[in-house]
Amino acid sequence: MNLHHTPAVETTTLAAPIEIQRPAVIRFGSGQAATIGEWAAGRGVRRILVVADAFNAARVSALNLSGEVTVFGEVRPEPDIPNLEAALAIAEAVRPELVIGFGGGSAMDLAKLVAVLPGSGQTLAEVVGPEKVRAKGALLAQIPTTAGTGSEAGTRALVTDPATQNKLAVQSLHCQADIAIIDPDLTLTLPAGVTAASGVDAMAHCVEAFTSKKAHPLIDMYALEGVRLVGRFLARAIADGSDLEARAGLCLASLYGGFCLGPVNTTAGHAVAYPLGTRHHIAHGAANALVFPHTLAFNAPARPEKTAAVLDALGLSVGPGEGAAFDAAYRYCADLGCEMRLSALGVPEDDLPAMAREAHAIRRLLDNNPRDMTQDDISAIYTRAL
Ligand SMILES: [Fe+2]
Repeated sequence: MNLHHTPAVETTTLAAPIEIQRPAVIRFGSGQAATIGEWAAGRGVRRILVVADAFNAARVSALNLSGEVTVFGEVRPEPDIPNLEAALAIAEAVRPELVIGFGGGSAMDLAKLVAVLPGSGQTLAEVVGPEKVRAKGALLAQIPTTAGTGSEAGTRALVTDPATQNKLAVQSLHCQADIAIIDPDLTLTLPAGVTAASGVDAMAHCVEAFTSKKAHPLIDMYALEGVRLVGRFLARAIADGSDLEARAGLCLASLYGGFCLGPVNTTAGHAVAYPLGTRHHIAHGAANALVFPHTLAFNAPARPEKTAAVLDALGLSVGPGEGAAFDAAYRYCADLGCEMRLSALGVPEDDLPAMAREAHAIRRLLDNNPRDMTQDDISAIYTRAL
């Protein structure tokens, strides 16, 4: 692979149609979170509902809000339907004019649904899928406190159905934030393990969109720059969590990953990673890190130039020959402190066939993978990662 060859725009995709949607306002930078209060006051907002996890609920004062402020502080990781219903019940009682998602992807995803469902007459089941939501009931602000999901820039909300363990995906333009505020100060206290996993998640959004069948030059620019930012700043933020410049770089990478998700989205990496979360409760970022070298190497023959560009953007030197891309990506993740063995995360060998079946069924992602991945291919990846 020639690492210094930047892939040219593929002329077959240059004229392909694409539509991008962004929050109406994006504020970025140190100290910006405290400006949400003034933004809300300028819109005459009186009743505000903050949707947060317990940790962030305890620091809502950082948002400098005035008026009637209610905090739902019980968002759980990988939120399920009962968790959503608890938030909706509060919203039905409070009738907020502004909903603020304040936390990681889980809080921001629930905030999207809390902004559209109460008073709409629509149930969650009726809005699962693309563009089923009829209207938005409140203004929506998103303020991420991790650097990974990019959910602040997106229109998709994922909620787990506890009966099936499936992720229900609601996608709607009504779930778009009216304002997203990305403030790296909020990420300074993240522990190293969370920083590593969420940073690799942001990178995976960029890499999978960059190599997707649906890749588009308009998004490739953000995707490749997102990978570069992770390559430049993730190890630095892990080594020193108080490094504000590194934290800001990762926040930007996460936002760029979010830009990739809407119009292009992820492919095999996320599909192969999902069963680790749904069946074995492995955190989303950690699951993506474990899977990353496997799917990158699997897809390399279908996207050789773009794979080389990814490894180059991460600052990795790749040796010649078969397996070199895998080795470089694996070492990169392992050196960040990510656990790379399924067995070490408690996944038993006898569950691998069911996991492969579940991953292979995620057609919304796998159909866009640049190389066809069979159920046997997925089994082989799990076996190799055991
Ligand atoms: Fe992700």
